[in-house]
Amino acid sequence: MLLRDAHNRIIRDLRVSLTDRCNFRCFYCLPNGEPPMARKETILTFEEIAEICEIFVSLGIEKIRLTGGEPLLRKDVESLIEKLAKLKFQTSNSKFQILENPKSKIQNPKLKDLALTTNGFSLEKRAENLKKLGLDRVTISLDSLKKENFKKITGVDKLDEVLTAIEAAKRAKLEPIRINAVIVRGWNEDEIVELARFARETEVSMRYIEYMPLDSAHEWDRKLVVSGKEIRERISQVFPLILKESSRGAETAWKYAFADGAKGEIGIIAPVTEMFCGACSRIRLTADGQLRTCLFSTTEHNLRDVLRSGATRTEIVEFIQSVVMKKEASHSINGKDFAPASRSMSFIGG
Ligand code: GTP
Ligand code: 5AD
Ligand code: SF4
Repeated sequence: MLLRDAHNRIIRDLRVSLTDRCNFRCFYCLPNGEPPMARKETILTFEEIAEICEIFVSLGIEKIRLTGGEPLLRKDVESLIEKLAKLKFQTSNSKFQILENPKSKIQNPKLKDLALTTNGFSLEKRAENLKKLGLDRVTISLDSLKKENFKKITGVDKLDEVLTAIEAAKRAKLEPIRINAVIVRGWNEDEIVELARFARETEVSMRYIEYMPLDSAHEWDRKLVVSGKEIRERISQVFPLILKESSRGAETAWKYAFADGAKGEIGIIAPVTEMFCGACSRIRLTADGQLRTCLFSTTEHNLRDVLRSGATRTEIVEFIQSVVMKKEASHSINGKDFAPASRSMSFIGG
């Protein structure tokens, strides 16, 4: 029994936000600081998250990405990783499967990929243990290689810590290591080539992301978007690139290798100018237990209340299926009537 939406897309990728809190103040995300603390009881416990993830895996989810806010701020996130890693080996509730769908083709669905998106601040010391507990890989945000500009963009003077975290992630083999750089006109487009050089030197995947209207300050402006095309051209002038695959599948990034054979990779994520919604396989769970069918959804679906009302597993599955059927065909950033998402990125999870 796979999760299929009304546009015939199969949902394979669950992104779970663990907290709205963050210790950075990236201007494109959470410039004015943290939202008021959510009441503790509204936040899903690790047991609840693990239960939900197990149900999703039984429905064909293969990738789980933990995000935030900053997920490593959540106390003892290691214990959650340990729980979720079991989904990679454990067959899900097979009794339930047989009862639900005797002809199910996916007999023993398992989690294939457990990833984490982090600002890197507290990763250095924890990387090795996270790997040991079953985390497969990390994506680390890094928008600038210049101390002053890093501080201007993120609001904190932590470039050195993030660079050290990248090294630690490499040592721990949390690979493939992906680095997210949101490129914004006037802020860091002059660093595009240097970031590519960094990818070559450190042998990581540098992913350039177009600025999306998901900032809590609502200051996004189309004029600030540096298109994927421009990013590609700027890099190619210095480091010629070769497209790795002619299809992205359900992934967000076009991937490029360096033509001269240097290690490292370039990824271009261009949701504004080269929309990739047609192949979207993602669904999101917020820290307070709301399902979101799209980054840009203006409504959410309260899975927490369903779970806490004592619903049976079948009822929970039916709820999830009904939510998936409501998944939007695409975002409408480029439409005349674009309405910003009901929450900013720090709530939804990058
Ligand atoms: P992996 O392929 O598993 O590494 O995931 P990914 O390609 O989604 O990468 P990652 O999770 O690092 O996301 C990179 C960035 O892409 C995010 O921070 C967002 O800015 C953007 N992004 C991710 N998912 C979506 C999506 O569904 N829609 C849009 N418009 N942007 C997305
Ligand atoms: N536009 C594009 N990407 C964003 N992110 C956060 N805010 C935005 C935005 N407005 C992404 C960044 C960051 C991740 C956590 O979320 O890629 O690395
Ligand atoms: Fe999927 Fe929405 Fe992102 Fe498009 S904007 S790729 S539909 S989550």
